[in-house]
Amino acid sequence: MELKPTTPVPGGQPPPGAAPDWTIAQDWSAYTPQEHATWDLLFDRQAAMLPGRVTPAFLEGLDVLRLSRRGIPDFAELSGRLHALTGWTVVAVPGLVPEAVFFEHLSQRRFVAGRFIRRPDQLNYLQEPDVFHDVFGHVPLLANPVFADYMQAYGEGGLRSLRFGALEKLARLYWYTVEFGLIREAGALRLYGAGIVSSYGESLYALDDPSPHRLGFDLRRVMRTRYRIDDYQQNYFVIDSFADLLRQTLEADFAPLYAELETLPDIEIDTILPGDRVLTLGTQAHAHERPRAH
Ligand code: PHE
Ligand code: FE
Repeated sequence: MELKPTTPVPGGQPPPGAAPDWTIAQDWSAYTPQEHATWDLLFDRQAAMLPGRVTPAFLEGLDVLRLSRRGIPDFAELSGRLHALTGWTVVAVPGLVPEAVFFEHLSQRRFVAGRFIRRPDQLNYLQEPDVFHDVFGHVPLLANPVFADYMQAYGEGGLRSLRFGALEKLARLYWYTVEFGLIREAGALRLYGAGIVSSYGESLYALDDPSPHRLGFDLRRVMRTRYRIDDYQQNYFVIDSFADLLRQTLEADFAPLYAELETLPDIEIDTILPGDRVLTLGTQAHAHERPRAH
């Protein structure tokens, strides 16, 4: 699930057929053989490429959750295994849900996932998160106790951010960690963000391409930095460990931070600041080769 504060969300009411908390039945038996085959194709492609690129915690999650079994996972069955490990479950929703609904689920250790899968002509790119992005991308790390705690804390922090009108700042934190985060383990950069690991192209680009900047994670800096939703990222932020990410975000009271950030300008996507810990100074060639969408 992506968090896009710029996306207009439907009004307060869930669509017909959805529960008051916006959940729907996954209706697993309705998937066609073609849909299961699409999952298998995407799964096999990522599973072959990610070892050595992704954090080992992600591969452990795939393993303990038995995600390599063929076909689109049955959320009920997956939730059984996940719940036993970290208390999280996976529930289906019709599409993007209002922020407050999303945060409320996270704070209750429920991960909301789309049930539809992309069409065969959309294997490499689609804008709306589908079941492959949501489940393959996000769920393995929910089997990791520290990351599981981070996601719950994020949900609680999200509900709180709404009271401060600070959703956009907090959404950037989600974007640059949960969706597009990198981690440095034993000196080597590894992927962990769901938006990267569910994308073949970005799994290569985020680690190897000379274009993007790769900067040490800094909470304030991240919350001030704009991001793009239409192409590979121009900036990645690198954490030292999930424990460090959890500690930094949990310990800080964001209320004064939001007030302070309110007085500071946003940072443009490709800007490098004097205080940045620059791990890679990107050429930005990828972005410059393409017309900017906005
Ligand atoms: N500590 C944050 C607050 O005071 C909450 C939070 C925790 C936000 C973890 C993000 C991640 O609002
Ligand atoms: Fe997502």
